[in-house]
Amino acid sequence: MFDELKSRPADSLLALIKAFQADDRPGKIDLGVGVYRDSMGRTPVMRAVKAAEQFLLETQDSKKYLGPEGDLQFVRLLQPIIFGKSPTFAQRLVGIQTPGGSGALRLGAELIQAANPSARLLLGTPSWPNHAPIFSSARLPVKEYAFVDLMSQQVKFESVVACLSSAREGDVVLLHGCCHNPTGIDFTMEQWRQITEILVAHRLVPFIDLAYQGLGDGLEQDAAPTRMILEAVDEALIAYSCDKNFGLYRERVGALYVMTRNEDALRKAESNIAALARVNWSMPPDHGAAVVRSILESEEMSAMWRAELEEICLRVNGNRAALAAAALDLTFIRRQRGLFSNLSMSKETAAALRARHGIYMADSGRMNLAGMQPADADAIVAALRAEGCL
Ligand code: LMR
Repeated sequence: MFDELKSRPADSLLALIKAFQADDRPGKIDLGVGVYRDSMGRTPVMRAVKAAEQFLLETQDSKKYLGPEGDLQFVRLLQPIIFGKSPTFAQRLVGIQTPGGSGALRLGAELIQAANPSARLLLGTPSWPNHAPIFSSARLPVKEYAFVDLMSQQVKFESVVACLSSAREGDVVLLHGCCHNPTGIDFTMEQWRQITEILVAHRLVPFIDLAYQGLGDGLEQDAAPTRMILEAVDEALIAYSCDKNFGLYRERVGALYVMTRNEDALRKAESNIAALARVNWSMPPDHGAAVVRSILESEEMSAMWRAELEEICLRVNGNRAALAAAALDLTFIRRQRGLFSNLSMSKETAAALRARHGIYMADSGRMNLAGMQPADADAIVAALRAEGCL
């Protein structure tokens, strides 16, 4: 039977990891996959994570099953960080631990499909390349609309408004809560307000992907649009990832939160997400969630984590400033947020940047700003000029 399969191309983003490793030129620069790098070019285990792992090593006395919902204390302790201390909607929220933000997206997609089989997923493009496949493979039709114009590096707000305003009641709108991947272009708070009004007026369901909280302007600021939307709408889903803000990438730790209209729906959603988790992965991997829980249970480790996350955020924004200062045509990079900015270029140009200059970025022209050092800015600009990007 397997000879009937069609071969599939390898994920081009993940293929960059191997291509970069195989390149032995000393001046190579990795602006590819979205991981943070420090001023030594390393992706370190965060200090608070090391402390929590030490703590777990000494105190964890069992690895028995926890159940499909995972570590519910982890899910609870993240809530004030994401939603604020006492949000009005707290009683309408239920959460479950998932394998990374991707697991949360997949579980949310299946929940939507089970609840409303005629719902469609509205997706602004460009988006994270895995968004559309995750939703389509959960049998949710994906309707794309133009979100950003890469030439001008501006949000196409009229296109956003037009698409959302013509959506059907019950359609789901995927929104990047902060640090848009791949463009770094977030809505202004005024635009978020208008989007919230449209969601409410047209009874659309926001599905907020919050994978970079703390890497834009700080934990509170980055959560502000999510909180504003949840105060206003009846129903919502939030896919949360701890990959980046806790540096736990390969541990796969995230959560799905579902906000329902009432208590009855909350209990139904709760039982459905647990059942869906059970058939997908049975129970999520524990270690990453146990680390996050241990950090959040300890004042000392929490303070350590917050301080290091601030350092990370400052460094990324410092790299943005350095690259923006190196070329007039790149000044937009300074006002964008998160790990990424997306230049307008062909995949042939991205390949030439790799082959001729040892500068690795996604074929789409997406750059991970955390992968550079401020001192690399001139080399990056020179390569971009040589390839006609500037
Ligand atoms: C990225 O966008 O680079 C990361 O989220 C890694 C991934 O899974 O694609």
